[in-house]
Amino acid sequence: MLKHEQIEKSVGLLIVLTLLVVSVGGLLEIVPLFYQKSTTTPVEGTKPYSAVRLAGRDIYTREGCYLCHSQMIRPFRAETERYGHYSVAGEFVYDHPFQWGSKRTGPDLHRVGGRYSDEWQRAHLMNPRDVVPESNMPAFAFLAETKAKDSVGVDIVAKMELMRSYANVRGIPTYTDEEIKGAQAAIGDMTEMDVLIAYLQGMGTALSTMKQ
Ligand code: HEC
Repeated sequence: MLKHEQIEKSVGLLIVLTLLVVSVGGLLEIVPLFYQKSTTTPVEGTKPYSAVRLAGRDIYTREGCYLCHSQMIRPFRAETERYGHYSVAGEFVYDHPFQWGSKRTGPDLHRVGGRYSDEWQRAHLMNPRDVVPESNMPAFAFLAETKAKDSVGVDIVAKMELMRSYANVRGIPTYTDEEIKGAQAAIGDMTEMDVLIAYLQGMGTALSTMKQ
């Protein structure tokens, strides 16, 4: 029998056994999550992103909004009173990649959908200080100058097909052929700002408790 003392005195053995314990423990904690229904099934009311919102989501990632904004409301009272219902795993099944973020220079945005009007969002993106004087968020006025079909809308069909393949693997609802075929038309002449606002307005609405 190996004595504890022997293990502690042999650095090599200690490292190997530590790694073994951490790996087995880690697998036991992580692997069941892949199969747990609550993490793989969409929450009621969560739908695949429409072509327009998917394009808006691309702008969100491209502009690095996630560097200042999280999309992850933690189950603490201080958070739920400010933002609304805490985030649950089943709300993120259509997020590839997810935009949880890890830093809050600005507020969490997971339940921002429907909290303000489209006009407010537009004014805020054009120049945040027009609506929130003390804001240090940068202005994104240039997003109103480019048509989404010329940037993020270019590959929207391929992107939706990719999203559909992810959903098929997990056996969850996804796009129909018609929705994919109509993607370019749905985006039409919208600007990058229009699609971004559509994305923001749909955010976290499935469990929203603060809808106006
Ligand atoms: C440099 C950090 C920074 C970046 C980058 C940034 N924001 Fe902000 N954002 C803030 C701060 C700070 C606030 C709070 C003040 C305000 O409302 O303007 C804010 C507020 C907001 C709000 C209002 C939230 C609420 O609940 O009142 C929205 C919506 C928003 N940002 C969207 C965006 C989007 C979309 C992008 C990317 C295009 C973005 N932000 C990029 C810092 C940032």
